[in-house]
Amino acid sequence: MILVTGGAGFIGGNFVLDWLSDPSREGIVNLDKLTYAGNLDTLSSLADDPRHVFIQGDIADYALVLNLLKKHTIRAVINFAAESHVDRSIHGPSDFIQTNILGTFQLLEAIRAYWSELKSPDKEAFRFLHISTDEVYGSLGPSEAAFSELNAYEPNSPYSASKAASDHLVRAWHHTYGLPVITTNCSNNYGPYHFPEKLIPLCILNALAGKSLPIYGDGQQIRDWLYVKDHCFAIQQVLEAGRLGQTYNVGGWNEKPNLAVVQTICTILDELRPKDNGSYADQIIFIKDRPGHDRRYAIDATKIESELGWRPAETFESGIRKTIQWYLNNSEWVDGVVSGSYRDWLEKQY
Ligand code: NAD
Ligand code: TYD
Repeated sequence: MILVTGGAGFIGGNFVLDWLSDPSREGIVNLDKLTYAGNLDTLSSLADDPRHVFIQGDIADYALVLNLLKKHTIRAVINFAAESHVDRSIHGPSDFIQTNILGTFQLLEAIRAYWSELKSPDKEAFRFLHISTDEVYGSLGPSEAAFSELNAYEPNSPYSASKAASDHLVRAWHHTYGLPVITTNCSNNYGPYHFPEKLIPLCILNALAGKSLPIYGDGQQIRDWLYVKDHCFAIQQVLEAGRLGQTYNVGGWNEKPNLAVVQTICTILDELRPKDNGSYADQIIFIKDRPGHDRRYAIDATKIESELGWRPAETFESGIRKTIQWYLNNSEWVDGVVSGSYRDWLEKQY
């Protein structure tokens, strides 16, 4: 089996569903702490699938992780588990240090203990994939080249600093102990099962609810958007054929200013779910900027394309349409995540 951590979250959940949709693949042990961002409703279609074993627990629990690795003779670990929201990291960085840094450390140690006891050929075949972000590279000027794997780390938020620290630990465990690791640094994802604290799902749901669509600052900050299913496929390719100790940047070749993203959402909603009067764009408002807001991220995904033949299948236009349609069709999932604690967050932030 493989061990997936954080598989009840946005990207991990999509990865688990995609992986198990292929009956020829081995099973998944899914270890997730079920923080506010973890949601078992995402995995409800797997309730009767014996290839999915869900365990509620923490990646920082060394004994639990070691026990799972041994019990299920795990051949690969994919680490999605993290605190992932920049705005929350500004309000309270402590959980980010705990999970992203100390949690990754304990996870690496448990994996090292297990891997060092493996015999050939299982030892050579074992893989640890660490899922990270382009935010570790800091912010780009308008005409600077996109981030390659050779860019220096210059993280600016508590979130990106904690992810950068985890990437350094993973790298060191490879160089010092020979642990067979690969790290991916991906741009902003969007798609089904995205928790509505992030820009795209927040704006889709606020638009439908008749609420304002909050744009930080001037809305000209640029992100490189990747449809989540494309990211999941990239991770499968890296697991199969990525070179040990390497990092791979994963991106959508889709740089867009935030305001243009929100305007696109409004235009598609105007077509799919027209309002009685006016456009959803009338709900756009500009609010105080995020402290330390990175101006531009862009990924140069040449290495993963030339080495592993991966390219995103979706354009932004096709992916955002699928995403909006998914939210329109899945109001039950949305009702499940929009709980009391989510409402508390909205009040604090906006
Ligand atoms: P998410 O916040 O939606 O999900 C994180 C999951 O991890 C949740 O299910 C949560 O319950 C679980 N978790 C948190 N702390 C844990 C712990 N200590 N032990 C076990 N489980 C724990 O995040 P996401 O957007 O799915 O991101 C997944 C990974 O991908 C993260 O490492 C993130 O840094 C990285 N990433 C995300 C994006 C993006 O755009 N969302 C882009 C690039 C990289
Ligand atoms: P987000 O989805 O939080 O991802 P990240 O900060 O990891 O890139 O935000 C994407 C962009 O949208 C970012 O530049 C911040 C901006 N943003 C808003 O303008 N308004 C909002 O309400 C949110 C949540 C984000």
